Amino acid sequence: MSESHDNQHAHELTNVPDPAVVNDLYADPGLPEHQWRPTDVDAHAEKRAERQVATLFGLSAICTILFLVSYFAFDIGDDPDVVGGFGASNLFLGLSLAGALLFLGSGIIQWARKLMADHEIVEYRHPAASSDDDREATLAALNAGLEESGIGRRPLVRNSLLGAVGLLGLPAVVALRDLGPTPSQVEKNADYPGAGLEHTLWAKGVRVVRDVVGTPIRPGDVEIGDLFNAEPETLFNGGEDGEPLEGLALQVGKSKGAVVMIRMAPEEIIPGEGRENWSVDGIVCYSKICTHVGCPISLNERKTHHLLCPCHQSTFDLADSGRVIFGPAARALPQLPLAVDEEGYLIAQSDFTEPVGPSFWERG
Ligand code: FES
Repeated sequence: MSESHDNQHAHELTNVPDPAVVNDLYADPGLPEHQWRPTDVDAHAEKRAERQVATLFGLSAICTILFLVSYFAFDIGDDPDVVGGFGASNLFLGLSLAGALLFLGSGIIQWARKLMADHEIVEYRHPAASSDDDREATLAALNAGLEESGIGRRPLVRNSLLGAVGLLGLPAVVALRDLGPTPSQVEKNADYPGAGLEHTLWAKGVRVVRDVVGTPIRPGDVEIGDLFNAEPETLFNGGEDGEPLEGLALQVGKSKGAVVMIRMAPEEIIPGEGRENWSVDGIVCYSKICTHVGCPISLNERKTHHLLCPCHQSTFDLADSGRVIFGPAARALPQLPLAVDEEGYLIAQSDFTEPVGPSFWERG
């Protein structure tokens, strides 16, 4: 049997197409004839394209300025509804920033399509790692590209692009203002108690009540080893004016005022300096908000009086002023000083003596 007959037989058996047949069927057609663009052959068309690109960059700059104006013209929250429940602030900020990016992107695309060099190249596949020669060639091509982009020769395009890109950084800078207001400003301007980070709803004489139901607690209700989730009674009766809190005031008051209360044998308590009278018959009370990043804590180890945060396992010793004994929290759980009122219910002696929750820049 001849060799070619053997090969043909092998291809039939394995179903692998004969390379010679494939090459005949799919011969490389090569590149089609290059079509010059109007801007390559007509100086007027080139100038027109240049003006179009500059106009797009100019529109981008105008949109960025509109963004800045909108940012200062409308107060978030107090701005009028414009359409479909969108406030003027959100609407104009969104539209102007979208316009700035859209016009800038369109200008760059038009510049590349109409004015930059229009070479057709063929690039063959090669191993992933580039050789030194290839790298040098790439660098040379990059430099040639920069040269051919005409960025040096076309000051109108270059300057309008620089203006548009430069202005685009400003929205990010002015948006830094939204990191505020500072906690003390919140405290000063808010129209409900305990709005800032420094203070909570707790105050002298405020009763400690059960979470959810709001009923007051007597020391006799708390067994040794029990853990109570509790809140300030102000949440339910609104304090001096008697109006129950609602809306934002309720949410803020509840989230910052939440406490855990446990009872242990009085002799197990190691009172911190000045905290000798902060417990009642072995009952101690701490903020429920982890001082790491603010998760609510209530995993209690009865025997050790350790309170564990489920988020990152910070562990606090409730017998020892809420000291951190493990985990990433950097400071002790704030302790609420307790007392008993004339009717025998547990009350706070004062607000917390330090801010609750994670540390923040004005804490000191
Ligand atoms: S929030 Fe409690 S340990 Fe991180």
